This record gives sequence, structure tokens and C-alpha cells, in this order.
Amino acid sequence: KIIILDFGSQTTQLIGRRVRELDTYCEIVPYNKFPKEDPSVKGVILSGSPFSVYDDAAFKVNMEEIWGKYPILGICYGAQFISYVNGGKVEPAGTREYGRAHLASLDSGNILLKGVRNNSQVWMSHGDTITAIPDNFKIIASTDKVAIAAYEVTDAKVWGVQFHPEVFHTEDGTQILKNFVVDVCGCKQDWSPASFIESTVAELKAQLGDDKVVLGLSGGVDSSVAAVLLHKAIGSNLTCIFVDHGMLRKNEYANVLNDYNCLGLNVIGVDASEKFFSELAGVSEPEAKRKIIGKGFIDVFDVEAHKIKDVKWLAQGTIYPDCIESLSITGTVIKSHHNVGGLPEKMNLKLCEPLRLLFKDEVRRVGRELGMPEHLIKRHPFPGPGLAVRILGDITPEKVRILQDADDIFIQGLRDWDLYDQVWQAGVILLPVQSVGVMGDERTYERAVALRAVTSTDAMTADWAHLPYEFLGKVSNDIINKVKGVNRVTYDISSKPPATIEWE
Ligand code: XMP
Repeated sequence: KIIILDFGSQTTQLIGRRVRELDTYCEIVPYNKFPKEDPSVKGVILSGSPFSVYDDAAFKVNMEEIWGKYPILGICYGAQFISYVNGGKVEPAGTREYGRAHLASLDSGNILLKGVRNNSQVWMSHGDTITAIPDNFKIIASTDKVAIAAYEVTDAKVWGVQFHPEVFHTEDGTQILKNFVVDVCGCKQDWSPASFIESTVAELKAQLGDDKVVLGLSGGVDSSVAAVLLHKAIGSNLTCIFVDHGMLRKNEYANVLNDYNCLGLNVIGVDASEKFFSELAGVSEPEAKRKIIGKGFIDVFDVEAHKIKDVKWLAQGTIYPDCIESLSITGTVIKSHHNVGGLPEKMNLKLCEPLRLLFKDEVRRVGRELGMPEHLIKRHPFPGPGLAVRILGDITPEKVRILQDADDIFIQGLRDWDLYDQVWQAGVILLPVQSVGVMGDERTYERAVALRAVTSTDAMTADWAHLPYEFLGKVSNDIINKVKGVNRVTYDISSKPPATIEWE
């Protein structure tokens, strides 16, 4: 496997995903936690970082641990760091370089650059630049703005690239990563969903034996795939619980239960909406709403799980991005996501997380291989607290009804116009605003809603989706005509950052 040392870059996870897309295995660890004495490590990638190498607070790694023992590829900060600690010079760039650049003077005979086209586009994102390299370093590519865009170390298996091969906009980036991972490090490209299923089912059988397992389903792809995988391994010893907190999408509870039944899963559906509505009554502070729902969910689940006899394990659809140990750079909690944590502590059961090493795209591939229907696999992410975080202000059943109806028109519209799969996530927000309108000869004074649709690859950053005006016009018209209580529709055109995907 490849170890990716994380120095806190926004794109570290993307490096991991790209390496996995080569059907090779990698793990992301904090820069100071290199796994010593792990014979399966075949190479190391150093990520980018928000710091400058000469900052006092910069993350530094002892290169002696890895130098000469493994092939190394430094990306952006990683490249600057390797050069800097070997005596090279790194300085603030005269002009900060963000965005497109083109490779020039490429040493195409270099193993790292095999198959990479001279003049191909690369993506830069750096405020510092390497201005001088040590004597035993050799430049293997430049761009029009930076002389040292890529280097190799002549007497060690070490390379550095100033640009980001992991991002989509670096045209031959995947080729560069493949050259490093496969040709230099010798990793085999032998991961497949079928082999993952085969080995995981065998491991689950050995781990669980005849034990009983309980799993919380959310309707989302991760918990659903985890359930089907476990069902394949232990059959009826798996019981799934699906809690309706009353803030799901229109008809979602019934639809999802039906899907699960068709998959042969043993599912207990619990309609707990009244409990949640009464606990949420009058609460409008976003974090308070999240906390009530998170706690209520755990309580309901706990009660239901205890009705099943002799349960020993709690299974969860935790995936790799939830497990990567993150470097705390600012320490600020933006939003407390309710499905990460809480439940295992309360339940006192052993934890089983069969997807904990997979990225989302790998989970989807596994789901397809397991024969799950495409609409389950491609379902947009949906927040654990559901529509509660899309109703600004306090929550009432009437507001949920209005939002469900508006949301249903938007989502169904996206499907009808073949736009659903082009966006990462979409939904409607009910605003705490009333405005004046006119319907027929009547004055109206009703609510405003915002449509929200974004494109993204990991929800860490997102852009607002540039949906066609005709489509937005049609949805707006339908919502105002069909949803009683709404007389105005707006479209949210903010990206993340600085906004977030949800409004609360
Ligand atoms: P934000 O709003 O932080 O959302 O940009 C990023 C992604 O996370 C989802 N989200 C949640 N998911 N529990 C969840 O399971 C939560 O409490 C929660 N809050 C936000 C959001 O829908 C988006 O996909």
C-alpha cells in the first residue's frame, strides 16, 4: 500500500481517492504518524498544506524515517518541504499562482512523467515557490511561470511536483500518480468490488459467527450497502432499524422500507415522528435542533435494539472519510453532524464497520456488484437531521408538510429533466420570511423558499449548480401553483466555502 502523509491540505483526500481509483490501496495518516515497521508499505506521498515550509507552526516530518527506505512523491508543500530540508530555497512567489498553467520543457524520459504530454494543463494552488534546488536535485518540468514545476532527486527514489496531480484540472495527473504508484512503487492494481465482497464476507463470517447484529438504516447509500453486505454474510442474524423522525422527504419512509424489503433485509420501521415534533416544538437555534434530533434518535434506536434478543454487535455504515484522523488546524466546529458518534458509546455493543476502509465511490461500486438498484446507489446525500435543518426557525408539522411538497416537486423535476445525476445534492429550504404576492385578484402574504443544488465531489467544497433557467422557471411555477402557503421561490447561488451546503 501507499501511505499518504497529510499536512492538512484540502486535497489530501482527493490524492487518496485517485490512488484508489487505480485499484490500488492507500491510507491517509497525519504527517507525524507514519506507520513504522509495516511491511506492506511500498511508497509515500507527502500532501500539500495551508502552511509555508518556513512558518514556525508548519508541520514538519523527520524525513530520515522514510528517506531511502521508500519511494517518495511530494506534492506542492510536500515538494517544497523535501527541497527545503535538503538545503533548497522556498520563497513567497512574486505572483501567487492559482489555477491553470501548462507544462513545458518536460523530461519525458523520466519515469514519473512517462506518457505525460508537454504543454498539458496542470492545476496550481500555491503562494510559495521553490526558487533553488539542492545539487543532487534535477528539474524535470517547468511551466511558463515557475522554473521548478517538478524535480527528481538523482541519488534517491524521490520526486516533487509543485502542481496538484490529484485534481481533475490537471489533465495528465492520473498518469503521473499511476507512474509513481504502479511503476515506481510496484503496487498491484488488483482491487475490485467482487474481490472486496468476497474477502469481506469471509471476514464478517469469521468475526461474527452466530452472533446477532443490529444496524441503523438511514436510506442513504452507505448504511444500505453495509446492510446488504452483512446480510450476505450472516443472513437473518442481521436486524435493521429504520427510524422515521418525521423530517424525511415526502413518502420517503414508505419508499425506503419497500426498497429494503425487496432486498430481503429484515427491517423494523419505527415511526417516532410525534416524539420528535413535541421535543422540537418552539426550538429554533440550529445546534439545539441538531442535538435534540441526535439524542432522540439514539434513544429510539436503543429502545428498539433492546427488544431484539441477545444482540452483540452494532453495525454502522461508517466510510473511510469519517475515519481519517483529521489534523485540527483551526479547531472550530462548524456544525455537529449527528450520525458520527454517540450511538456506540450508549449501546455498549461491539462495533462492526465493514465499509470503514472505503471511499464513497468504492461503496457505490460494491453496491452495484451486490445487485442493488441504481436509485438507491445514486441517491443524493441527505442530512441525518433531515428537513429540520432546512426549515429555518422552529419546526411544526405544517412547515414540514409545505417543505416536503416543495422539495418533492424540485427533486422529481430534476429526475424528469435528467439533471438529478448531474448534481451532488439538492433540496429546498423553507425561509422564515413572508412576502407579498398576487394570485388572481387576491393579495397573498405567504412564505418564500430557496432552491439549493450543488455540484461537488466530497461535500468539503461545492459550487452552486448552474441549472438551466427554463428548468428553474418551471419548478418555481409548479411550486407556487401547487404548494399552498408558498408564493415566492429563490435560487441559492452561493458556493462552499464561504457558504455551506445546508443553511443550518
Ligand atoms: P454542509 O452544510 O456542512 O454539509 O456543507 C456537508 C454535507 O453534510 C450533510 N450534512 C449532514 N449529514 N448529519 C449528516 O449525516 C448531519 O447532521 C449533517 N449536516 C449536514 C449535508 O447534507 C451535506 O451533504
